[in-house]
Amino acid sequence: MKPSRECKEAASLIKEYRGSIVAFTGAGASAEAGIPTFRGKDGLWNRYRPEELATPYAFATNPRRVWEWYKWRMSIIAKAQPTMAHKVLANWERDGILMGVVTQNVDGLHQRAGSFKVIELHGSIWRVRCTSCGIRRDLGFGNIPKEDIPRCDECGNILRPDVVWFQEPVPLDQFQRAEELFSEAKVILVIGTSGVVMPAALLPINAAREGKILIEVNPEETNLSNLARVRIREPAGKAFEHLARLVEEDLT
Ligand code: OAD
Repeated sequence: MKPSRECKEAASLIKEYRGSIVAFTGAGASAEAGIPTFRGKDGLWNRYRPEELATPYAFATNPRRVWEWYKWRMSIIAKAQPTMAHKVLANWERDGILMGVVTQNVDGLHQRAGSFKVIELHGSIWRVRCTSCGIRRDLGFGNIPKEDIPRCDECGNILRPDVVWFQEPVPLDQFQRAEELFSEAKVILVIGTSGVVMPAALLPINAAREGKILIEVNPEETNLSNLARVRIREPAGKAFEHLARLVEEDLT
């Protein structure tokens, strides 16, 4: 299939602003890898209640249930492969087109595709943190804890997934790194996010206010759509297949 007019427009902006581009990704960027998104028809928050699974209170009252749910998600992610979108973003970083990725995803697929500069606003499902001494440990992609409720090697207390839950702040250092990266960018690729979760969504919203160019890749209309100069209404994998070809055609 031929690339759409929007893809062509996006590709010419990407070529023009190469080196000053940042990607902002959400669950839709991993949807084609078979990882469920949160909202929408088949979204996790349609099937599960976030207050029972993704809040500090839920974990304090029933850590076993929360861990069970996270281990189920880990088992889905462990089988997933990076999509075309992940791969193209990693190639573009290597080639100096993209400055880096700011993601709301916890799945680690950007790094798995080869991206180096990845700012994880909502933590990582492949890292644990002690609820008592605070120590963090990387599990490594695909390594799912065997215990029902994993415990800290240092102090023996309960470990939790090192992700951001509802009612918790986004890690300040990550948010500041993301703001710095955004401040240097001229174009923001907004890929597969509904743009409703704060403060993450403030990054593209403020960028648009400052006159930066937003390119949205999402099959659906979102909260951020009216801020975007170009809206590619396609699944990210398909859009990036076209974009990679269009961008690389001229650069080689
Ligand atoms: P959402 O589930 O809110 O939104 C996913 C977006 O991806 C929707 O706008 C879909 O239209 C779009 N989408 C679906 N398939 C796609 C595809 N193949 N290609 C491109 N886009 C596609 O996910 P997020 O915006 O990431 O937070 O949600 C933000 C945060 O809400 C998550 O990080 C999580 C959740 O609660 C925490 O866990 C703190």
